[in-house]
Amino acid sequence: MTEKKVKHLVVGMTGASGAPIGIELLQAMKHFPDWETHLVISEGARLTIEQETECSLEEVAALATRCYRLGDVGARIASGTFKTQGMVIVPCSMKTLAGVATGYSDNLVLRAADVVIKERRKLVLVARESPLSPLHLQNMQKAADLGALILPPVLTFYNHPASIQDMTRHIVGKILDVFDLEMPNFRRWDGGSVEQSKG
Ligand SMILES: Cc1cc2nc3c(=O)[nH]c(=O)nc-3n(C[C@H](O)[C@H](O)[C@H](O)COP(=O)(O)O)c2cc1C
Repeated sequence: MTEKKVKHLVVGMTGASGAPIGIELLQAMKHFPDWETHLVISEGARLTIEQETECSLEEVAALATRCYRLGDVGARIASGTFKTQGMVIVPCSMKTLAGVATGYSDNLVLRAADVVIKERRKLVLVARESPLSPLHLQNMQKAADLGALILPPVLTFYNHPASIQDMTRHIVGKILDVFDLEMPNFRRWDGGSVEQSKG
């Protein structure tokens, strides 16, 4: 009997607003039993998790298959020899974006992202700030040039969200799409119900 091959997704949570999106992603990943999640939580994210959610750090950590200390730059996800399908930084602060864009890998979130870039794997940055300064935009451009996908947590209205959770889940659905995973009940645009006039 052949064993099912386990796939690995690295998840970094950093201190931009949007901790519930990271949590929703970790919960959604539980629908995919052949995937394992490897979580790192930054100091900034500790604050936003406290401010923005009802979850304790321990509860968030327990959603992942493994959770690593931020300073543990010797963890398996700090090496390219540990094969992963890629990484999502969700939410991604402007500070972490700057670190990714410049290769300044002084913590495990940044080192894991650096590894994903050097190994040419998928890197999704759910970068959040508003408004965006020229420096933020330059760093986004740099990261995009390195192969990262910039996926800001912007609002979507065409799917008629009834709640913040609906909006959060829609963003997570877009993240999962990058890894060819289908978010349960993800509402895709189907062309709309309004027929175009034939005039
Ligand atoms: C409640 C709260 C919300 C924040 N929101 C943002 C944000 O949306 N974007 C951002 O870039 N920084 C935001 N910050 C600031 C970052 O947390 C801060 O720059 C931190 O040093 C980022 O470090 P990290 O990337 O290592 O987590 C926020 C901080 C707090 C406490």
